[in-house]
Amino acid sequence: MAISTLYGLSFTLVSLFLVLGTSFPRANARAFFVFGDSLVDNGNNNYLVTSARADAPPYGIDYPTHRPTGRFSNGLNMPDLISQRMGAEPTLPYLSPQLRGQRLLVGANFASAGIGILNDTGVQFVNIIRMPLQFEYFRQYQQRVSALIGVSQTKKLVNNALVLMTLGGNDFVNNYFLIPYSARSRQYSLPNYVRFIIAEYKKILTQLYNLGARRVLITGTGPLGCVPAELAQHSRNGECAPELQRAAELYNPQLYQMIDDLNSKIGSHVFINVNSKKMHSDFINDPAAFGFVSSKIACCGQGPYNGLGLCTQFSNLCSNRELYAFWDPFHPSEKANRIIVEQMMTGSTEYMNPMNLSTILALDSQT
Ligand SMILES: *[C@@H]1O[C@H](CO)[C@@H](O)[C@H](O)[C@H]1NC(C)=O
Ligand SMILES: *[C@@H]1O[C@H](CO)[C@@H](O)[C@H](O)[C@H]1NC(C)=O
Repeated sequence: MAISTLYGLSFTLVSLFLVLGTSFPRANARAFFVFGDSLVDNGNNNYLVTSARADAPPYGIDYPTHRPTGRFSNGLNMPDLISQRMGAEPTLPYLSPQLRGQRLLVGANFASAGIGILNDTGVQFVNIIRMPLQFEYFRQYQQRVSALIGVSQTKKLVNNALVLMTLGGNDFVNNYFLIPYSARSRQYSLPNYVRFIIAEYKKILTQLYNLGARRVLITGTGPLGCVPAELAQHSRNGECAPELQRAAELYNPQLYQMIDDLNSKIGSHVFINVNSKKMHSDFINDPAAFGFVSSKIACCGQGPYNGLGLCTQFSNLCSNRELYAFWDPFHPSEKANRIIVEQMMTGSTEYMNPMNLSTILALDSQT
């Protein structure tokens, strides 16, 4: 009894010391912030009343806990794998009650499945965290961290952080092309819609810069027409859906140009273009080269290509998730995410422009 009390006391002292000792981020500890949609949501939507969620089996079947977490993956997602490369804990969802105290210094994940560049994207999911609210939470986060380590250390933490922003796919899939004759498709031709959302995205990135972000990975959209959901609805012989492919072809070069303009205006390589189209196309064009039996059929789903409806416990489920590029009708498997993050780390300028993630991590740790 006495021993355990003593032990408890010294343990308390040690943890107090640890807490105080690590109150200030080490010079080389870099925070990681994540914004965007379901490709990068670590579970914020679990805390919301929305239908855009991944908190039931078989989601998470290959996660270390083998339980659903809210990630739209069989296991780890892109932010988790980037955190690993940074030698950091995975980012907690901003809405998680566990995100407090020292854990705030690791960073935070503000992403929310279903959202897009536009506020009217994903209206069918009702209660999701759209970009203006993700940024409001980021402000709130900075206030909370300031209370912990002070204003100037907080500014430093944010300036030195790595940021990931994944946005845009839903503005096509869950807005313009959601239903025939959607409001936005009656308002804009596809080329004009792309110009409009790129202009809105530019405002979002400018806000992110003003909030202190100085190193931001921006993912373009993958080959939207080739995901199992689109194949199921629009493809007879497995060819990618042409309208969505056209959307990605219009969108990605303009995104790239906009990023370039912003960097020139700022006079620094703040925004890094991640060529998701190229990354995904590699394994869509040659799945076998990456060890996949299929890049068309989702591991979990039903109907043609397992591309219809949601992935639930009643769906078809493949036995080996390593063999599938797509986990569900829209989202890559952990294996595909690994390949993507590997390309982020070491890819040439064709994949990562103006520099890859290993260069960023080496460069920024010297400052
Ligand atoms: C989205 O909503 C925010 C805040 O409610 C507003 O400031 C912004 O202008 C809206 N964006 C568009 C494109 O309407
Ligand atoms: C990308 O990463 C590799 C391996 O770390 C590195 O050798 C190469 O120079 C980088 N390429 C660019 C364009 O930054």
